[in-house]
Amino acid sequence: GLRKKEVNVLCLGLDNSGKTTIINQLKPANHSNHLGPLSEDWKHVSQVQAQEIVPTIGFNIEKFKSSSLSFTVFDMSGQSRYRNLWEHYYKESHAIIFVIDSGDKLRMVVAKEELDTLLNHDDIRIKKIPVLFFANKMDLRDAMSSVKVSQMLSLENIKDKPWHICASNAIKGEGLQEGLDWLQEQIA
Ligand code: GTP
Ligand code: MG
Repeated sequence: GLRKKEVNVLCLGLDNSGKTTIINQLKPANHSNHLGPLSEDWKHVSQVQAQEIVPTIGFNIEKFKSSSLSFTVFDMSGQSRYRNLWEHYYKESHAIIFVIDSGDKLRMVVAKEELDTLLNHDDIRIKKIPVLFFANKMDLRDAMSSVKVSQMLSLENIKDKPWHICASNAIKGEGLQEGLDWLQEQIA
């Protein structure tokens, strides 16, 4: 049959924002636990069991397939000491998922600094790659809305790349499918 298009997706954002939790939701082992399983279209390549999620050291690589695409997701650590690893993967990335903890008002300015650094990087600035934002942890009582998060991050200033923001609850898997469907449309 036809070879699936190979797509590298970089998952970025501050530590504790929920990147690994989001990516774990794409694994079929987790689907039965949740109300809205991700569509049958999303198949994980290897059979990874549900594990307790710990802060990522360095990064992890996960592979997923949809009907037309073969994804390699780079789940980067958001800890400050590892953020210098991010840029090594900019050149070969075809899409970015940027995760924000909507409840972390204190560090929203840090998230904005990291986003601005990313968008101004030589290897990203010139690329028209799609950027998907998850305003994650929407279940927290004091979570900011996705509109508020997008204002705090000045997303309206991103003119040269398609971008989209979704509110999400990675623990329940809510909001993830909408974002991933958008991303897939942009790439396909
Ligand atoms: P690093 O690997 O350190 O960069 O962090 P990360 O962005 O991968 O965050 P991780 O997925 O490890 O999640 C951090 C913590 O937030 C964990 O305790 C998760 O259970 C929790 N968490 C993730 N998503 C949500 C969410 O939507 N709501 C709530 N309430 N907690 C969440
Ligand atoms: Mg992680």
